[in-house]
Order: sequence, then structure tokens, then C-alpha cells
Amino acid sequence: MNLIFYFSLVVFLCLPGNIFSQEYDAKSGATKDYKDQEEQAMPNNKTLVVYYSRTGNTRRVAGDIAKELNADIEEIVDKKDRGGAKGYVVAGKDAATEKTTDIGKMEKNPADYELVIIGTPIWCWKMTPAVRTYIEKYKEDFKEVAFFTTSGGMKPDKIAKSMEELAGKKGLGFFGVFEKDLKDKNKDIYKKKVDDFINIFLKTE
Ligand SMILES: Cc1cc2nc3c(=O)[nH]c(=O)nc-3n(C[C@H](O)[C@H](O)[C@H](O)COP(=O)(O)O)c2cc1C
Repeated sequence: MNLIFYFSLVVFLCLPGNIFSQEYDAKSGATKDYKDQEEQAMPNNKTLVVYYSRTGNTRRVAGDIAKELNADIEEIVDKKDRGGAKGYVVAGKDAATEKTTDIGKMEKNPADYELVIIGTPIWCWKMTPAVRTYIEKYKEDFKEVAFFTTSGGMKPDKIAKSMEELAGKKGLGFFGVFEKDLKDKNKDIYKKKVDDFINIFLKTE
């Protein structure tokens, strides 16, 4: 199929975007508000946050969750080039067709954790190939799981369900962040979403 046509189709159907302006820590990706809470957090070696992020949104949310829970965090690296217009189109196509991909070596062993929280951007109504690959590879090692998504506006429910099905395990919880939540003017909405999510695990401790 013609590349330009395919590109336009993916842009139109998937409503992408990547606009956010809250201040965040370049290294961890965490929002500044959360970074400042670092010292107050209780030690927690039993939770691992893993995520894939192409343009930073999911990295930032993962960083905020990890800071709040004082959890370990690791990024899933997709070895396939997802940059530029072509990378974008292929990304949408790979996600839509539920492809897996080559991912970088993970340093953290999920079997060492009581809870693994997995975050993915939504691509064409699906989880990303990198997260699909991670779940397929490590699902036997998960004790408890929870999920989060970031998206241009799609709700997390269906993706979280598909992640549960792939993991063969019901999640303790899930939530979704929209691009608009990451704008400075919506920082209270965003903070409440993150806090409601992490409270699930603080209650079960
Ligand atoms: C190839 C592609 C497909 C996308 N498809 C959707 C979609 O179906 N629904 C949606 O709400 N957002 C969609 N988006 C927007 C992303 O989910 C959103 O920008 C997300 O926060 C990006 O996360 P990241 O910055 O961590 O990569 C898509 C983005 C890309 C690159």
C-alpha cells in the first residue's frame, strides 16, 4: 500500500499526539512534583515498574508511579527503529497486527518482585509490540500484575484486558492517562489519577 496513504490513515485513525508541558525530571521521566517527594517515600523493593515509551509520555507516568511507590523501574527498549514517519507507520501496523519485536536485555528479573506494573502507550487500539513481547516472555515470572496506558484519548479498559489475557493473570488494577492530562493546566486531574492508582497497592500492603 502507498506509504503516504498508509501514513495518513494511521494519523487519522489513531489520533496521535504528544503535547505536554508539566515540568519533569529528564533522567527518571518523573514529574517534578513526584520527584520532590522522593525523600518521603518508604523503601519498597517488591514492586517493579516496566514500560515502553516512544515519545516520553509513558516514561513520565512510569517515573511518577515508581517515585510514589519507591519502586524499581526499567524501560523496555524496542530494537526496531520507530522514529520518523516511516517508523510511525510501521509502529501502527505492527501494533494493529499484534506483532512482537526484538527487545533489549532486561536487567531486572520480574520473578524477584511481588508486583510488576506494566505501562504501554496505546497504538492503533492495541498495546505496543515491545510490551507484548515483554509480557509474552516473562508472564510465568509475574506474581501480581497491574497495568497502565497512555494514549491520545482512548480509554485503558480494553488494552488492560488484553494485557491481562496475555499475562494469564488478573491485574490488581489499571488506569489510563491521556495526553491532555499531561498538560500543566490538568496537573490536578493527572495527580489524582496516579494517586488513585497507587493507593490500590498501598492499601494491599
Ligand atoms: C503509531 C501510533 C498509534 C497510536 N494510536 C493511538 C490510538 O489508537 N488511540 C489513541 O488514543 N492514541 C494513539 N496514539 C497516541 C499515543 O498512544 C500517545 O501519544 C501516547 O501517550 C504515546 O506514549 P509515549 O510518549 O510514551 O510513546 C498512537 C501513537 C502512535 C505513535
